[in-house]
Amino acid sequence: MSTLLALEGVRAGYGQTRALHGVSMSVGEGDIVALLGANGAGKTTTLRAVTGGVRWEGSIHFAGRSLSRMSTESVVRLGIAHVPEGRGIITQLTVDENLRLGAYLRRDRQGVRADYERVFDYFPILRERRELSAGALSGGEQQMLALARALLMRPRLLLLDEPSLGLAPLVVRSLFEIIRTINEKEGVAVLLVEQNARIALELSSHAYVLEVGRVAVEGPSAQLKEEESVRRSYLGY
Ligand SMILES: Nc1ncnc2c1ncn2[C@@H]1O[C@H](COP(=O)(O)OP(=O)(O)O)[C@@H](O)[C@H]1O
Ligand SMILES: [Mg+2]
Repeated sequence: MSTLLALEGVRAGYGQTRALHGVSMSVGEGDIVALLGANGAGKTTTLRAVTGGVRWEGSIHFAGRSLSRMSTESVVRLGIAHVPEGRGIITQLTVDENLRLGAYLRRDRQGVRADYERVFDYFPILRERRELSAGALSGGEQQMLALARALLMRPRLLLLDEPSLGLAPLVVRSLFEIIRTINEKEGVAVLLVEQNARIALELSSHAYVLEVGRVAVEGPSAQLKEEESVRRSYLGY
């Protein structure tokens, strides 16, 4: 499988604070990769480095191209969609208006129209609620809206930052089923940041565990799941 995203020795921080101390990881084309770790480990910062949301050094390549000094908009145009922590939807706008923001960089109107239908097939509830203010949606529905909006960018890679946060277990389960289906049907690669290690390891094929800005463990998800010591030390179950 060819590599879609590759980070090598990525260092990043905020002012004087270093958050990443040389992170190397990769995501293959069409892969689901989990990025795990405790609060403050640097998971969000890793995603921000990819999208140009934080200053970083080292190397990041997407589909063979260096992302060094690229603006966030250029990164999006290359095919990377980021669903940030807290979802990033605009609660004062309607569901429809939020979705339109997802397609704002696209000029292929017919393609966009078709993609709306496709996205509504994944998330029928959004079709029903398209005229409603996004603020009126439940937490799970808001996460679906954020995902739907990201899909309208027609990405090759989805960066998901803790999609399960604050959602009830059943809602998390159905959300992750949809992520799996999208990955299989559309061939979109996913880099999934999660604190919920158990479910992330079920969904992903490969996983990295960050510990204070460094990759402490990595390997096939099935293997990590079985390793008692890894589970105890890093995954908390
Ligand atoms: N905007 C920010 N300004 C200053 N420090 C930050 C900021 N965001 C994160 N940090 C710090 O960077 C480190 C990594 O944080 P983060 O990437 O958010 O971790 P995670 O997503 O794994 O919880 C933490 O020590 C955190 O306090
Ligand atoms: Mg985070």
